[in-house]
Amino acid sequence: MPSNPYTPGQVPRILAGRVEEMRRIEGLLARVATYGELGGPLLVFHAPRGIGKTSLLRAAQQRANESGFVTAWVASSRDQPLLSAIAESVARSLERADAVPTGAAGGRWRGQLDRLTLEVGVPGAKVQAQLSRRESAAPPHAAIAGLESLLHEAATSVRTRRGAGLLLLIDELHTASAAEMAVLLNTLQNLDGERADNPLATVAAGLPVTPEALTRAATFGERSSFVSLDRLSDVDARAAVVDPAAAEDVAWSDSALTAIVSESRGYPYLLQLLGSTTWDAAAPAAGSRLTLTHVKRGLPVARDQLDAMHRARWGAASRLEQRFLAAMAAAGDGNVTRAAIAAGMGVDSRSISVPRERLIEKGVIEPVGHGLVRFTLPGFGAFVRGLDEA
Ligand SMILES: Nc1ncnc2c1ncn2[C@@H]1O[C@H](COP(=O)(O)OP(=O)(O)OP(=O)(O)O)[C@@H](O)[C@H]1O
Ligand SMILES: [Mg+2]
Repeated sequence: MPSNPYTPGQVPRILAGRVEEMRRIEGLLARVATYGELGGPLLVFHAPRGIGKTSLLRAAQQRANESGFVTAWVASSRDQPLLSAIAESVARSLERADAVPTGAAGGRWRGQLDRLTLEVGVPGAKVQAQLSRRESAAPPHAAIAGLESLLHEAATSVRTRRGAGLLLLIDELHTASAAEMAVLLNTLQNLDGERADNPLATVAAGLPVTPEALTRAATFGERSSFVSLDRLSDVDARAAVVDPAAAEDVAWSDSALTAIVSESRGYPYLLQLLGSTTWDAAAPAAGSRLTLTHVKRGLPVARDQLDAMHRARWGAASRLEQRFLAAMAAAGDGNVTRAAIAAGMGVDSRSISVPRERLIEKGVIEPVGHGLVRFTLPGFGAFVRGLDEA
């Protein structure tokens, strides 16, 4: 019996859609590979949770590996200094690719690694302390110079070993501090000044606050390329459900497929979750077909899982944020105005900015233009309204 091909919460076996986004990435890679030069400014994908940022970055990584790049993956987090995570990841990926600089360059390389670790790596180290204290002050030059020569040396070393170049991937970039972002942006800016000598590209992803945070960290942060990731179109959503099953020689009935696609509203996580629960309910043999009966049988499991996610999001919200969410849920499931939320909370609409920003940062709600917001996770409004009744 074929095993379940769906991947709720993990990188998908088959990335559906994202054709435009992959083209952007391939553009950068082509520039590095063909001319041996810097692949443009920082490319940043931003979207709420579960839309497919990590999945896209992983697909980019795979494409780059296939094209002869050495790739370094960094999952930024509030617990670890970003700059030392970058240094570590770049060093590890060079080792794995057997592309660590040797000879005179090797000496420089080790010196840089040591220096950078000293500057930014060890908690309590000189610059690290500076970085955490002075959020918006001018970024420390030593850290910029350190990261700059590290990336230059690494990318050049890959190239002299006939590799295409270095691809640096940074996920969850929104967790970096303003000072770390400033160092990263200044570094890339400097590398761009000598772009012909720096065969590398940097692609990042983060929650919707990322562009604003980068622009605040350094004025020229706005020169980065920002691309927002949307839910999947109907056609792509269908492909996300059908293709993994087809690879196992299992088909979907039209009604089952339509039910899942409309229930998940193009939200990739939900497509994977419902695909998975349907598959488990059916335990299909090769050559068989998943039907609406299987979808329905799998629904309770999917609901439990979603319920747990709703609960986690609610639990992570402060009291004020919870009041905001309750007022928002009471106003309906679509796009909600600032005025409606303020009215629901019984306060002036100017005074809701702080919980609004925090909830956007956490990825629980997202702005949809003209001051409107909506929930990022389908069914969250109904969940919150349900709490009221309980
Ligand atoms: N293009 C896609 N095709 C098929 N499945 C996808 C696609 N993009 C994402 N998914 C699925 O959606 C879910 C969420 O994807 P992913 O983890 O990449 O999102 P994310 O935006 O990084 O979320 P988070 O902000 O929580 O890290 C996963 O189960 C993944 O398998
Ligand atoms: Mg992710």
